[in-house]
Amino acid sequence: MKNRLIEIIKEAGTILKEGFYSNKDITFKAKKDLVTTYDVGVENFLKEKFLEEFKDFNVIAEESDNSAIEFNNSIIIDPIDGTTNFVNGVPHTAISVGVYKNKKPFMAIVYNPILDELYEAEEGKGSFCNGVKLQVSDESEFQKSLIATGFPYTSASCKDDLDDVIKKITVILPLCQDLRRLGAASLDLCYVARGTFEGYYEMNLKAWDVSAGILILTEAGGKVSNIDGGAYDIFEDKYMLATNGKIHEELIKNLNL
Ligand code: IPD
Ligand code: CA
Ligand code: CA
Repeated sequence: MKNRLIEIIKEAGTILKEGFYSNKDITFKAKKDLVTTYDVGVENFLKEKFLEEFKDFNVIAEESDNSAIEFNNSIIIDPIDGTTNFVNGVPHTAISVGVYKNKKPFMAIVYNPILDELYEAEEGKGSFCNGVKLQVSDESEFQKSLIATGFPYTSASCKDDLDDVIKKITVILPLCQDLRRLGAASLDLCYVARGTFEGYYEMNLKAWDVSAGILILTEAGGKVSNIDGGAYDIFEDKYMLATNGKIHEELIKNLNL
């Protein structure tokens, strides 16, 4: 399944790449949440191929109505993660595809066609970027850790969420090496997996933002949890925390200060 999955996603990557270098029609789903014809085009391409080739799986996808789809054996798609980067020409954008069997992560692909970086993982078999095995960083000192985060679209509509973002930055920034906000959650998780970041946290993520990155990170030796340290529920939890494992407890502690 994995080889075919990669072939299809690489083909979809040519659509994303063509869009990246073209003028785009943009519509707004909410004040900050935008969508282009390429998001829909990549999604339709992937959905059609997956449903045709992987008949044991249903598909949950960002730009689709998923209300009648039951999560179980499911392929969860973000056709373009980092849409704001995509629209503005920032080359940090990716197709993210997480395959779940009995609600458990089974296979994962995150593909950035602009940088031609393909991250992949299979349960129990490690994770790789362009064939090179990934391993989380060894750093265990929080003060020396580079931490990534993201800002929710609700920062424009929900004062509580905005206040919480600012409060957590105020606490974390002086305690760590530095903070990054690169704008694609799937890739943020891959960057923890490959040891570029020691940790990452964000609120209000959707299942498609992280469905693939979670397995890529855990297969590289990393750890994912909610803000209390419990198992992260991709549909329910407010906060995701993801680290190299070594700074996990301290990140939990600091985000709860
Ligand atoms: C967004 C990106 C961003 C994150 C947002 C996501 P989209 O996904 O992953 O980094 O901060 O929470 O919604 O809208 O570009 O697919
Ligand atoms: Ca996304
Ligand atoms: Ca998206």
